Amino acid sequence: MYRTHNNGSLRLKDVGSNVMLCGWVQKSRDLGGMTFIDLRDRYGITQLAFNESINEPLCAEARKINREWIIQISGVVKERTSKNLKINTGEIEIEVQSLTVLNESKTPPFTIEDDTDGGEELRMKYRFLDLRRNPLKDNLMLRSKMSIETRTYFHDCNFLEIETPYLIKSTPEGARDFVVPSRMNKQQFYALPQSPQTFKQLLMVSGYDKYFQIVKCFRDEDLRADRQPEFTQIDCEMAFVSQQDVLDTFEGLIKHLFNKILGVTFNERFPVMSYNQAINDYGSDKPDIRFKMKINYLDDVAKGKGFAIFDNAQTIAAINVSGCADYSRKKLDELTNWVKRPQIGAKGLVYVKCNEDGSFKSSVDKFFNQEDLSNWSEKCNSKPGDLILLLSGDKSTVQKQLNELRLLMGSRLGLRDPKVFKPLWVVDFPLLEKDEETGSYHAMHHPFTSPKNEDLDLLTTNPLKVRANAYDLAINGVEVGGGSIRIHNRPVQEKMFDLLGFTKEEARAQFGFLLDAFEYGAPPHGGIAFGFDRLCSLFGGKDNIRDFIAFPKNNQGRDVMIDAPSELDASQTKELGIDLID
Ligand code: AMO
Repeated sequence: MYRTHNNGSLRLKDVGSNVMLCGWVQKSRDLGGMTFIDLRDRYGITQLAFNESINEPLCAEARKINREWIIQISGVVKERTSKNLKINTGEIEIEVQSLTVLNESKTPPFTIEDDTDGGEELRMKYRFLDLRRNPLKDNLMLRSKMSIETRTYFHDCNFLEIETPYLIKSTPEGARDFVVPSRMNKQQFYALPQSPQTFKQLLMVSGYDKYFQIVKCFRDEDLRADRQPEFTQIDCEMAFVSQQDVLDTFEGLIKHLFNKILGVTFNERFPVMSYNQAINDYGSDKPDIRFKMKINYLDDVAKGKGFAIFDNAQTIAAINVSGCADYSRKKLDELTNWVKRPQIGAKGLVYVKCNEDGSFKSSVDKFFNQEDLSNWSEKCNSKPGDLILLLSGDKSTVQKQLNELRLLMGSRLGLRDPKVFKPLWVVDFPLLEKDEETGSYHAMHHPFTSPKNEDLDLLTTNPLKVRANAYDLAINGVEVGGGSIRIHNRPVQEKMFDLLGFTKEEARAQFGFLLDAFEYGAPPHGGIAFGFDRLCSLFGGKDNIRDFIAFPKNNQGRDVMIDAPSELDASQTKELGIDLID
């Protein structure tokens, strides 16, 4: 037997018991007559005491032990004289009677403490050591609880968990595919799934009307804090459902998770907002509604006063920032530079300070008098003491820029508390978007999303106006999930492929299996997928999903620990029939 207890379990009630413990040495302190070791495992830390006056040779052994060695001890549980109430085991210690070193350790390249001295890249290289630290351990424990609770919820709702293959044909989620060469089928490649989209639809045709899976997806796209090349989805599909049924079921899942994991209860239905309203009011299809600060449009009160930048702009819009009229010149310059950064791309920023005495001070006083500025402040619902920030230009660009500025100001004003959760369904997404460069249409969600019945006629006359039965769940400004009611008959699906620029042959070659399936009794169906890593990071109150994945990739898509991707052996490429070119 290695151990009788783990390092997080002993309490005052165990005083006097003989125990055996194993674990990693977190640290040791040599206080002359006494040596103390903090012994760690994933359950916690237990203090070991070696008393020179009781057992001098054992104490000498203990002094030789370094950080991260693995030891096994036996001893007696004692009440501590100086208690550490910050940890669960802080009222006891073990008076050690025997000690075995199970394995030594090199000195780790960074300290394995909650606040480590190791840089990101170094910790990624030694991820197996980083995972010993509490913050990462807590994240992985949270993730494990989330997946267990997800399964419990679906099980209780009579869903089946069904796996789908990883070696497949390209799926259309809008990113590039990762591809895998086939040795047995020379010069042919599998694609790794960007999602199990087509398979879950086929499962509906097969009659498995409630499906879910916690599944890996692979997308070759530019990485960000909330994007990994391989990530996990809670993927779901249901048959014989309306959009409302889908929202109800998955709102239930999110409420279940909040309740079981964080003890947060939502008594109300999640609010629902149309895509158009979200863009109009917040400049984003995933608005953070923890705070208002909506976009106000000032075209009718800001044009025609001789300020060419506004006069020539398609849109002039503003946000009202409460209580910031006292912003200094320096702070305003810094904000101006912030919006001018290439990531935001604004040409400049106009401000109006709403002074406490009811007067206004703006950066465009030359062109606009007090009455003009008063009109602006009325449009923005400003109060004395507020600061109005205006941007102008092309409408959708201004909306995007104001969204970024709004989020920045919301953070600065402390309006984005990570412990407050505001879910929001965004519905009625456009079916299509247009690539301005090529003029071609893309499916905004994916090509299997059904248009709204009442918009079907627009498919031929004004495709960009067609709304889809598509929905996203945003929580605190994070797109947590997205889905749609699907097309389930062949003619509409063919029409959709046609609009998306697929020739009949291309559609047949890529999705023939699905079109065929639609001719054998495909039920009406719809579904959704949640980004599981994003959901975990949101529950954990962090922005970076990497901290919630045991072995993630870095920003270049590399696993620096195992050194992947890496080159193939010449014999391997030959066997695969691949000729590498520089
Ligand atoms: P979608 O492409 O919107 O929908 O993806 C669903 C959710 O997956 C998460 N997500 C990601 N998370 C981490 N890294 C990534 N690279 C990444 N890409 C997406 C997001 C997103 O909301 N098949 C459809 C779903 C459906 O229609 O049922 C799909 O995959 O949280």
